[in-house]
Amino acid sequence: MSIHYKSRGSSLSPPHSGLFSSSASSTASAAMDNPDLNLLFTASALAFSALVLVMYRRSRRRKALRLPPGPPGWPLVGNLFQVAFAGKPLIHLVHDLRRQYGPMFTLRMGARTLIVVTSPELAHEALIEKGQLFASRPTESTIRSVFSCNKFTVNSAVYGPEWRSLRRNMVSGMLSASRLREFRPARASAMDRFIDRLQAEAEAKDGAVWVLRNARFAVFAILLSMTFGVQLDEDSIVRVDEMMKRVLLTISPRMDDYLPFLRPFYARHQKKVLEIRKEQVETVVSLINRRRSILKDPSLEPNAAPFSYLDSLLDLKVEGRDTAPTEAELVTLCSEFINGGTDTTSTAIEWAMARIIDDPNIQAKLYKEIVAEVGDRPVDDRNIEKMPYLQAFVKELLRKHPPTYFSLTHAAVEPAKLGGYDIPPDANLELFLLTIAEDPRLWSNPLEFNPDRFITGGETADITGSAGIKMIPFGAGRRICPGLAMGTTHISLMVARMVQAFEWRLHPSEPKMDFMDKEEFTIVKNRRLLATVKPRK
Ligand code: HEM
Repeated sequence: MSIHYKSRGSSLSPPHSGLFSSSASSTASAAMDNPDLNLLFTASALAFSALVLVMYRRSRRRKALRLPPGPPGWPLVGNLFQVAFAGKPLIHLVHDLRRQYGPMFTLRMGARTLIVVTSPELAHEALIEKGQLFASRPTESTIRSVFSCNKFTVNSAVYGPEWRSLRRNMVSGMLSASRLREFRPARASAMDRFIDRLQAEAEAKDGAVWVLRNARFAVFAILLSMTFGVQLDEDSIVRVDEMMKRVLLTISPRMDDYLPFLRPFYARHQKKVLEIRKEQVETVVSLINRRRSILKDPSLEPNAAPFSYLDSLLDLKVEGRDTAPTEAELVTLCSEFINGGTDTTSTAIEWAMARIIDDPNIQAKLYKEIVAEVGDRPVDDRNIEKMPYLQAFVKELLRKHPPTYFSLTHAAVEPAKLGGYDIPPDANLELFLLTIAEDPRLWSNPLEFNPDRFITGGETADITGSAGIKMIPFGAGRRICPGLAMGTTHISLMVARMVQAFEWRLHPSEPKMDFMDKEEFTIVKNRRLLATVKPRK
């Protein structure tokens, strides 16, 4: 919905997190705590009246449109409370709704209209056949705008020249195949450190390791070094990571995103938002200044990388603007790069190790292929290309466990039609990726996790969606994730190194493995994976 990703306003954060957890129930108590209650009530009464008027006008306009079907809503709030109190999160409720209303349905969430697409055919129509028409992003909340510098990021920019410039720069500056190759040495040493960390944690805890925490730390460290070209010590990495997590929590959707008349109740939150943004700017600007000093005098840090994402931004020419990005914009763009790949990739690693632990046969096949390809040498990304089973495993992983079930939210650039229904430009078009990848018309035994489907099973899938949509964990079309190659490389490499270095089992204190999911910034395992590792040698 909004970047990994949700709109990773400045970062890539999850769609509806926040709303369906605590925000709904916290709204009332937030009001009672406020000292300026009278003023607030007056303000909210006025805002409420204005909203009723706007909603009334909008609903008259909407009646003239033929939107996809959906559950009947209540006045003003639409389906908001039905969804919030459904007893299950939206990622699970989608399955019930599509059974009842078909592959595309409408949810009215207060002031916002969500149109949810769940089938490959409709996704193809939206992202490929009419790709240009649905390539924009919706307006965002004022809080997100603070962090995205008014949509000055690749993920949140409306479809147009500014988005094109930013995206082109990100791809050519950092995510192209040649840049990916240049960062091979940095990636290899990050992988060595990752394995050392796992080893140290296992030694200290009788073989026990938390998979997600370690994977997240490793991915975050790689992305930090690609962004600023410097190696940070462990404490600094943790400090930056904690600050970024606070940002992601802050931009998670809240009740007032859907019911703007509640905004006065969130005045305190607004203050907190500005404090967190200040903290983000201070932390990231110190890294920007450190890089600037190195560029002026490379002898200051001889181990610094010759190139970083930040370098590509410093004098970036953005179409339609005369000036390079401001300091605040640099902070936002760097944060987007770091956050876009962190939770998505590390989530995938946790699901991967859960599958590997659950099926010893898969673990044995991966290990056999690794030994046959590299022997004792650490696997590097050149080896991955020659490991068909590893590639099939990663593809099956992204099919069965896409790190985000909803793509980033799309919006139409002008009034449009999809599947014969009207899609107004102010509606949020949400693509649900999981049901596409589990469509029984496209896959044999779609609920089964079976990497061999891509080898002996003879099934195929182009994950970019350009040769037809069967699984699109990175989206498809004009807004497809620009980090696709880097994301799959990091997942493949980390899985290979983890299996090469250790034999993996479920920790004896854990109940039987299950694959229940829940939504955090991405879709994670409901129960964190605690593994036991035994070094292979
Ligand atoms: C396994 C890893 C990843 C997954 C599953 C993933 C998934 C996605 C998805 C589903 C989208 C939305 C596409 C759409 O709007 O239709 C997206 C967009 C995006 N991703 Fe990723 N992503 C991953 C890694 C990365 C990495 C490593 C980066 C950069 C360092 C990145 C940066 C972005 C950006 C900037 C966008 C917005 C593109 C645009 O709006 O033009 N992602 N990603």
